[in-house]
Amino acid sequence: MKKPFIFDLKTYAKENNIPIIQDEGLDFILQLIKDNNYKSVLEIGSAIGYSAINIALANTKVITIERDYFMYEKTLENIKLAEVESLVFPIYGDALSVDVSGKFDLIFIDAAKAQYIKFFEKFQKNLNEDGIIVCDNLDFHNLDPNKVSRNTRQLLKKIDKFKQYLKDHEQFDTKIYHIGDGISVSRRRKI
Ligand SMILES: C[S@@+](CC[C@H](N)C(=O)[O-])C[C@H]1O[C@@H](n2cnc3c(N)ncnc32)[C@H](O)[C@@H]1O
Repeated sequence: MKKPFIFDLKTYAKENNIPIIQDEGLDFILQLIKDNNYKSVLEIGSAIGYSAINIALANTKVITIERDYFMYEKTLENIKLAEVESLVFPIYGDALSVDVSGKFDLIFIDAAKAQYIKFFEKFQKNLNEDGIIVCDNLDFHNLDPNKVSRNTRQLLKKIDKFKQYLKDHEQFDTKIYHIGDGISVSRRRKI
């Protein structure tokens, strides 16, 4: 697959206001995959398939869930263009209603921020024993709560609540990295 295609995807996302993972965040995840030799990823939130395609290019299988039909179709189209159909398996539906079978080395949560606790609770059953759950946008563009709309302020509160939830979690140990838009990495605690 050709690098220029990745640039096209980034340009498309930018021109159409489609949020995709920042370069530093993506590099960080790809490095985790490489260092730990992860072979399977479950992604919540495909958008146009940008992160899924990049992960597949690291020779890792990705199941990715998207609830917006237009985005799902774009993902199908893009994985064909990127020639990674044998590695990326898109699912159309709301992740909170879709039942995924199987276990994964890495679960990447990158969908509606207000539902992060629900995603985390639901999909931990799909995590391999030594796997990790990674969540994006925990710094949420470093917005100042005093300078945003009421809706955004509510969202910032929900993200804070999620961070507190991770901090208090009895079964998972979490580190938050201020890389890209803020990324958490959670691992099961060893008993
Ligand atoms: C930030 S974008 C994903 C970006 C993508 N991971 C990337 O970096 O290329 C978030 C996507 O999650 C989708 N989404 C939000 N809530 C969802 C849900 N409950 N189930 C499935 N998809 C969801 C949105 O439609 C949107 O396309």
